[in-house]
Amino acid sequence: MRLAVAAGIPATAHRRYVSGVEPIRAVQWAPGGAAVRIIDQRRLPSAYVERDLAALDDVCDAIRTLAVRGAPAIGVAAALGLVVSLAPHGAEDPATFRARMEAYASQLTATRPTAVNLPWAMQRMVARVATMWHDPAARMLEVLRAEATAILEEDRAMCAAIGAHGAVLLPDGARVLTHCNAGALATAGIGTALAPVYAAHAAGRRVHVFADETRPLLQGARLTAWELQRAGVPVTVLTDGMAASLMRAGEIDLVLVGADRIAANGDVANKIGTYAVAVAAHYHGIPMYVCAPWSTVDRATLHGDAIVIEERDPAEVRMLGGTLVTPPDVPVRNPAFDVTPHALVTAVVTDKGLYRAPYSFTY
Ligand code: MRU
Repeated sequence: MRLAVAAGIPATAHRRYVSGVEPIRAVQWAPGGAAVRIIDQRRLPSAYVERDLAALDDVCDAIRTLAVRGAPAIGVAAALGLVVSLAPHGAEDPATFRARMEAYASQLTATRPTAVNLPWAMQRMVARVATMWHDPAARMLEVLRAEATAILEEDRAMCAAIGAHGAVLLPDGARVLTHCNAGALATAGIGTALAPVYAAHAAGRRVHVFADETRPLLQGARLTAWELQRAGVPVTVLTDGMAASLMRAGEIDLVLVGADRIAANGDVANKIGTYAVAVAAHYHGIPMYVCAPWSTVDRATLHGDAIVIEERDPAEVRMLGGTLVTPPDVPVRNPAFDVTPHALVTAVVTDKGLYRAPYSFTY
């Protein structure tokens, strides 16, 4: 069910939301457009390093190793990456170029399985030139570049719209729990779950964010804490086991999380640990909002059990900051995401507005 929202805050640029600091550009064109420029998120918060990627393998590696991460950001990075890796082949015959494009798009899609934004972006790119039977490769490349730019700019606009729609959920003094990083670092714009926070903060409301550290890769402790501090938004980091206890103590007013894929029935795949947060929030009567652009809604997947959950390297669990924290050979599990059933989701905040149960993302 879609709700009409009285959005009190216009969807304007990130700069306005984050006064005094440059907007974060997690993924963008490098000057001249011959490479994709990303912030290497593996290095944050101890070092701020930008990397320019032009080869297919480098783009795939950056997505796989989470140098660029977050569902919207990896879709955008793959779109730009497809263009820059095809660029040296602009003089090829059209059929060979097209076959190469499809192979590259499949390779990019295969880097991570759970976030739907990745196949969504690749299918959109491939479809854009599907009927250009009589055009030379160079013309197809031009069209692909324009489409990738559109994907990037639309993502920025969708983030701003999520901020505008979601800010109405945050009264002055709101204490927000979030999990993982669904901020500017996870998108091409101001983020998804953090977009309402930035919008409310820019409107002069006091908002305090509690960021779960998010084991095993610490996106909350490293990335959410870094970008909120940088923007002047008060933030406190919790270890993952602390959230329920803070809820019980009355220290959390609402939960805002992002999503990697939202099934047609409203089930939500998001970073591992989100389900535990949702169960705890439900028990304590705390609203839980999922914030995501329309590109994260997967209408073809009917329910959460059909979502493929990425299993990552066990070493990510065994190691912490380069130190072994378990016996070297102890069995571990490392699913990167979990599914929160729609019954635990108070509302889904998209760029088109707020949706509440019964969810039916089939249009
Ligand atoms: O494995 P990651 O870091 O790419 O996972 C990202 C997430 O799960 C985010 O929390 C999220 O909500 C989706 S991106 C806005």
